[in-house]
Amino acid sequence: MKKVVVLTGAGISAESGISTFRDSDGLWEQYRVEDVATHEAWERNPKLVLDFYNARRKDVIKAQPNEAHKQLVRLEEKYDVRIITQNIDNLHERAGSTNVIHLHGDVTKCCSDRNLNKPYPIEGDTLSYGITAPDGGMMRPFIVFFNEPVPMMEPAMELCSQADYFIIVGTSLVVYPAAGLINFVPKSVPCYLVDPKEVRVSRNITVYTEKAGTGVKKVVDELMSL
Ligand code: APR
Repeated sequence: MKKVVVLTGAGISAESGISTFRDSDGLWEQYRVEDVATHEAWERNPKLVLDFYNARRKDVIKAQPNEAHKQLVRLEEKYDVRIITQNIDNLHERAGSTNVIHLHGDVTKCCSDRNLNKPYPIEGDTLSYGITAPDGGMMRPFIVFFNEPVPMMEPAMELCSQADYFIIVGTSLVVYPAAGLINFVPKSVPCYLVDPKEVRVSRNITVYTEKAGTGVKKVVDELMSL
């Protein structure tokens, strides 16, 4: 089976009602990254960080996968589909995608602040302050904060280097290291990009300047017809 590698960002979940980060109504217009999404923020004011991610988790639990998530599941009928998502929601999995790498974590889970690589489930929608992990650390959201290492980059780079087709959906491609993944895709591999706004990519790529719900269907229809 040929391998389709898909890199997704906040835009694929926008039509499910989840805010993106850098659009005019995006989350980083309402919050400062330094206050809620860095390791320093967690050390300084963990309650504020917990509140921020508790609100994100509530949004995710309420949301449903949209047409774009579902179309990527359909692609599995013909291809070995590997999704690399920057999103902290679980809408790809809930749609039915079987291979999903979360580069930036999963807000529905938590981990000890002494071991960021071992996720635990969260019961309900709230992670309360002061819960102790089995290793004695404090439970925090299972999120890769800004300026923390991204442990899933290695397997993601490996997947990109093995792609037969590469699709990018709904990401501004400004956050590294994720934005650099396209450089690991061999130059001969056909690439597609779906985004209603212009996104700068330094290679030949077929662009669908539209929302994920309609654009991903077009890419999937094309790959299914090959
Ligand atoms: N369909 C497809 N794309 C859309 C839609 C839509 N309906 N609506 C918006 N977009 C596009 C925007 O045009 C933009 O290019 O989604 C992209 C969202 O970009 P960002 O808000 O920057 O989100 P993302 O690229 O996922 O951010 C990367 O930054 O803050 C961090 O950790 C956070 O994982 C996140 C990372």
